[in-house]
Amino acid sequence: MKTTVSVIKADIGSVSGHCVAHPALIDKCEEVLTDAMESSIIEDFYITRCGDDIDLIMTHKNGELNEEVHRTAYDAFMKATEIARELKLYGAGQDLLSDTFSGNIKGMGPGVAEMEFKERPSDPVIVYCCDKTEPGAFNLPIFKMFADPFNTAGLVIDPSLHDGFKFEVYDVMEHTKVILDCPEEMYDLLALIGSTGRYVIKRVWKKNGEIAAAISTERLNLMAGEYVGKDDPAAIVRAQSGFPANGEVVEPFSFPHMVSGWMRGSHNGPIMPVSQENANPIRFDGPPRIIGLGFQVADAQLIGPVDLFDDPAFDEARKQSSQVANYIRRHGPFEPHRLPSEEMEYTSLPGVMKKLEPRFTKMDE
Ligand code: F6R
Ligand code: MG
Ligand code: MG
Repeated sequence: MKTTVSVIKADIGSVSGHCVAHPALIDKCEEVLTDAMESSIIEDFYITRCGDDIDLIMTHKNGELNEEVHRTAYDAFMKATEIARELKLYGAGQDLLSDTFSGNIKGMGPGVAEMEFKERPSDPVIVYCCDKTEPGAFNLPIFKMFADPFNTAGLVIDPSLHDGFKFEVYDVMEHTKVILDCPEEMYDLLALIGSTGRYVIKRVWKKNGEIAAAISTERLNLMAGEYVGKDDPAAIVRAQSGFPANGEVVEPFSFPHMVSGWMRGSHNGPIMPVSQENANPIRFDGPPRIIGLGFQVADAQLIGPVDLFDDPAFDEARKQSSQVANYIRRHGPFEPHRLPSEEMEYTSLPGVMKKLEPRFTKMDE
């Protein structure tokens, strides 16, 4: 019998502004998921939050895209939204695009990362949750975990990793996908995934087809046709015994790489790895955050988690993230801090252009 891990996440309201999901919302989600566990829809769950996003981490036996599991998550978010409205929380219900659930949660607003696998004798699984960034933020760290021998020693010295991995990449603009083998097609892969706003790693497998990682790739702004909130992604990664070791899975975050999605979804900034307790994006609504939770999945139960970035070994990355934040913030409204105009989630440019159009004259050549 296979086990499925489903992470379903949404921003349904926060305090103050877009900062932190209120504990009453998490309590309500807890209630709904406890009921679902009692009626055997799910086997176990753990709820966390990163900034204003609530992440429902669930285990079950129903496979991916299961209607009952997705309905449970949507119900939890809908019921918690009622509380968010009562408390007049900021952005109450913002990621729920419909009042009625239909089939599965994809396209309805929340982000989804799921994987089904046959449990190994011992199965370490790591869940990452982000705020103030976009799914492409995972491209660099996932690449490093599964394809960069300077990050993952096992690619070179462990025969069970030496064959490399397969990467599934989505083109989120064209709604197409491609699978590339690493290390064989590494340069082609990098040519795509360096464009983080368009090409997004969705899944990684071992060459024998065993699932290794899954990332949520929903782009709310594209789904709704207008800006209705960001895509703050989540990811699931399996570790050890044929996969990168726990330490190789967290190592990429010792470098606070630049990601898009800070302030008004329109700025680049360095991602900061933090503990659950410190997942409070405050300065200039950021900097973008990531938390990491280490579980053992045992007969579809979640053992743990260990709060992986609650480790002084990541102090240096946090410090560097703050320093880079100081540096890039001084660019104010200039690129590359501000995103290029076509990628901004808020823009006054069309209005400014309309106003100034009559005043534009031919340039002297
Ligand atoms: C939201 C976010 C924030 C908001 C900003 C403006 O997750 O990243 O930076 O974009 O606080 O929010 P509004 O337009 O709601 O006032
Ligand atoms: Mg928000
Ligand atoms: Mg958010």
